[in-house]
Amino acid sequence: MQADVQAATDAVRARLQGRVPTVAIVLGSGLGPLADQVADALRIPYTEIPGFYVPTVPGHKGELVCGNLGGKTVLCQSGRFHAYEGHSADVTALPVRMFGALGITTILLTNAAGGVNPAFGPGTLMLISDHINLTGRNPLVGPQREGETRFPDMTNAYDKELRVLAKRVAEERKIALAEGVYMGLLGPTYETPAEVRMVAKLGGDAVGMSTVLEVIAARARGMRCLGISTVTNAAAGISDQELNHNEVMEVAAKVGKELGRLVEGIVEGLRT
Ligand code: HPA
Repeated sequence: MQADVQAATDAVRARLQGRVPTVAIVLGSGLGPLADQVADALRIPYTEIPGFYVPTVPGHKGELVCGNLGGKTVLCQSGRFHAYEGHSADVTALPVRMFGALGITTILLTNAAGGVNPAFGPGTLMLISDHINLTGRNPLVGPQREGETRFPDMTNAYDKELRVLAKRVAEERKIALAEGVYMGLLGPTYETPAEVRMVAKLGGDAVGMSTVLEVIAARARGMRCLGISTVTNAAAGISDQELNHNEVMEVAAKVGKELGRLVEGIVEGLRT
């Protein structure tokens, strides 16, 4: 295993006190409180993990939280690394690679996103059916890493079976859940209205600055992914309103409870 993944994995394993998480949950902007839902929480600050950085973005805490949720041992990543912070695609994907090395087989990724589909207003929860990677980055560029496929198939990047499960849980728990394509851009600027029209033309329903690189690394390792976007705002030009990160975090916090109920139900329904 490459040194960066090995060092992070060894450090985290040493702090897990024998716990063996089977599911990872990546928490997007403002969605950190989801980690408070896990019982018997054990917190590992990023400062104790080699290769991990302290997040620079408000709404991203900078700790792993291991605990029980929906009858499983889960590992929550509270704070992610974005390429727009100046991180390489490798750093962005490091937590996911470490999850794989820890033996985790299923990853639930959440994010905050702008709604491009006019039907997906602020507060919409959108199950990601597929993505388009327009970040210009890819964590698989470079020497092939141990345990990874050189040319991973992306047909089922957002696992079909997990999507069926998510929809079933949403129905049972009476949570409205849309479904659509997530387009990942580099950021950190929000898009121009012309860019949002481009995203719509290319088939994107929501737009954001994360997730796609992590899913690519996960697929190269054969891990199953499920993605849920919280639409925190209408994308630029869809409404007259200007965008700001505080609004993104506010809406994410409001929807957080519902997203938490959805995630808990999904974890409960997992076979892993
Ligand atoms: N664009 C890109 N990323 C985002 C947005 C947006 O409108 N909202 C939240 N994250």
